[in-house]
Amino acid sequence: MLDDIKEVLYDAQQIQDKIKELGDTLSRDFEGRNPLVICVLKGAFIFMADLVKNINIPLEIDFMAISSYGQSTKSSGIVKIIKDLDVPVEGRDVLIVEDIIDSGLTLSYLIDVLERRNSKSVTVVTLFDKPTRRTVDLEANYTGFSLPDEFVVGYGLDYAEKYRNLPFIGVLKPEVYSK
Ligand code: XMP
Ligand code: MG
Repeated sequence: MLDDIKEVLYDAQQIQDKIKELGDTLSRDFEGRNPLVICVLKGAFIFMADLVKNINIPLEIDFMAISSYGQSTKSSGIVKIIKDLDVPVEGRDVLIVEDIIDSGLTLSYLIDVLERRNSKSVTVVTLFDKPTRRTVDLEANYTGFSLPDEFVVGYGLDYAEKYRNLPFIGVLKPEVYSK
């Protein structure tokens, strides 16, 4: 598995340090608001787990699964809810936890859904961002790392469902795609 990696962009320690910073900031900014923290599956599952351990105020968590990519590395623009939330968001301060923002299509769809359900506020935290890839005008409220325009894997992110368990974020060797 490790021989498929061309380059490590951020190692496990750098990621943990950044998540600590994000957790401190979110603890301050959401103090007294009991946010509903929503993990966007599958990619954000590791970030979600590490992030909430670093937020020291009362909160609730829920999960949502959305598909836009299938097995390909490019966004299809078609977004589908595979698994919806268990609880209503009406009147809630919602914090969306995303792994990565690329075109922005997935997130803009999700924000729209949560706003139409009359959430009180929608805030987005993403661990990774590829700002040069955006096709819709949208930014996360909190971002861990900006990445170059390269397909990345690890720390929850996959290529064809593999590599999610790598503790770092890295770039695959090009020959892996042509296998
Ligand atoms: P959009 O284009 O809608 O995409 O902003 C967001 C979702 O696409 C996935 N994505 C990636 N997954 N490596 C991955 O493993 C990447 O480099 C990558 N870029 C986008 C991801 O699921 C994200 O939530
Ligand atoms: Mg995702």
